Amino acid sequence: EDAEKSGYDHYMLKEIHEQPSSLRQCLRGRIDELEGTVNLEELSDIDHDGPVQFVACGTSYHAAMFGAERLRAGCVSAQAFLASEYASDRVPVDGDTLVVGVTQSGETADTLRALREAARAGATTLAVTNTVASSAARECDHALYIRAGPEIGVAATKTFASQQLALAMLAFELGDDPTRAELEALRDVPGQVQTVLETTDAKAVAEAYVDADAYFSVGRGYHYPVALEGALKMKEITYRHAEGFAAGELKHGPLALVTENTPVFAIVTGDGETARKTIGNVKQIASRDAPIVVVTDGKSRVTRYADHVLEIPATDDLGGSVLANVQLQLVAYWIAHGLERSIDKPRHLAKSVTVE
Ligand code: G6P
Repeated sequence: EDAEKSGYDHYMLKEIHEQPSSLRQCLRGRIDELEGTVNLEELSDIDHDGPVQFVACGTSYHAAMFGAERLRAGCVSAQAFLASEYASDRVPVDGDTLVVGVTQSGETADTLRALREAARAGATTLAVTNTVASSAARECDHALYIRAGPEIGVAATKTFASQQLALAMLAFELGDDPTRAELEALRDVPGQVQTVLETTDAKAVAEAYVDADAYFSVGRGYHYPVALEGALKMKEITYRHAEGFAAGELKHGPLALVTENTPVFAIVTGDGETARKTIGNVKQIASRDAPIVVVTDGKSRVTRYADHVLEIPATDDLGGSVLANVQLQLVAYWIAHGLERSIDKPRHLAKSVTVE
């Protein structure tokens, strides 16, 4: 087993470090820079212009939220549903709906059930999965593979990043064509993840906050699902209380939880409207004395409110959310490491959940 970990203490850390290559695999042959298009060969016979619904669980649900947001940005009507909440009564689809199951394993019972209900109601179905010939891949009308390679750690890491890029490409396939800048940003993500891995201060941040009472993360737009995912990673492997929030929702309740012993991780990229608003929320947190860790490309003035900065290379918001997530994966990993948790096999959790 040690040999399979290639010198890393845990599969999780190994898989975090595999992301530059797994993301390259995800993109390989799918971006045509000369033509300025994305080509997903598996989906060449999808001709869809109706609404899109995502169904997924856990980490894959956060990727689904991200995908829905990206599709909406490309002028496609899209929503993400928790698979376990999707089809308890009447399935909200018609023959024009494309229902996309996002599932790393392709075997999650809740997701399979939602896909089956959708198919029965007449929807077209698509599995976005890591596992060739999985139940989801076999049962759906179409399958898009994220090509992340096997993931052993129970806490999903590289598969989430590959889901993000695969869903970004799906959005270009179904919605507006990418601009040249968007294509270049996609292409550059794997190399930028490598930069994050080589330069990160996540270990020092983890050491500073290993004894915190709770951990909060906030973001807007593409960074909101990443805030949720960062908190889920933290819960899964540290067994500590962690919550992710939409940055704008803090003032509607969660702010009451903030103390000087609850670090808040804020994801801020670029210097546009989204960044400006999140910085406003960061100021509200800072004035309540909570420690602030910003995950940022440094383009805005957010660093002036930060106790710690986790820097990521400058790119667009979509790419930035992939990079920010890598920093949060590493912080969760190093806190769990400091607490001597069973990182690859957290208590009570399973890699693939085949009961509803
Ligand atoms: C389990 C795993 C999670 C995963 C979820 C969905 O709960 O522990 O890490 O996100 O299942 O898995 P899927 O294979 O459908 O992506």
